[in-house]
Amino acid sequence: MAMGNRTGNRWLSMRGLAAFAGGAVAAVIASRMLPPLVAQAAGTARAAAGRDPFSVLERDHRVILSLLTRMERSPDNATGGRMQLLLRLKRRLAAHALAEEDVVYPLLHDVAHAPEDARHLYAEHAEMKMHLFALEQMRKDDSRWAVRASELRLLIAGHVRQEEEVDFPKLRRRMDERTTRAAAGGVQREKAFIV
Ligand SMILES: [Fe+2]
Ligand SMILES: [Fe+2]
Repeated sequence: MAMGNRTGNRWLSMRGLAAFAGGAVAAVIASRMLPPLVAQAAGTARAAAGRDPFSVLERDHRVILSLLTRMERSPDNATGGRMQLLLRLKRRLAAHALAEEDVVYPLLHDVAHAPEDARHLYAEHAEMKMHLFALEQMRKDDSRWAVRASELRLLIAGHVRQEEEVDFPKLRRRMDERTTRAAAGGVQREKAFIV
């Protein structure tokens, strides 16, 4: 669903606050405050197609890491480019995190019985948001901007490895067909909130 930047930012701050407060319930309530009809329809249609929820998330990982590499390599005088890359990263990461936090990690906790893994991944998402905040606040011609982007890339690369090599496989093993279809719909629905 399309949102203006102003609304989008406010929405992201709400999500950030909820996550820092550990307020999973608050986050779910906040997510229901947006009119989700179109998103729901899209999610339901794709769930019916039985798409694997994890392959969609793995594709996001590749895009997110490539944006971060471009940020890391950007010269200090490319201020407009840095701003644009950061906005693209924020939007992509926000949609991705929404799907994982509201659909995948609860399944990791309840179905794969890996509560420590789930808590660890939630905490790393909070760390990512701190880096994004710093990158947004810093002057875009500051030489430390690329260093911060590099730190965020390393954090996300490790997080992605944990998801793809450990936790997604755990879920794939434990989820039956019905749960997989429901998760695929849920992932698409959550991602559609921020496009
Ligand atoms: Fe994640
Ligand atoms: Fe992920």
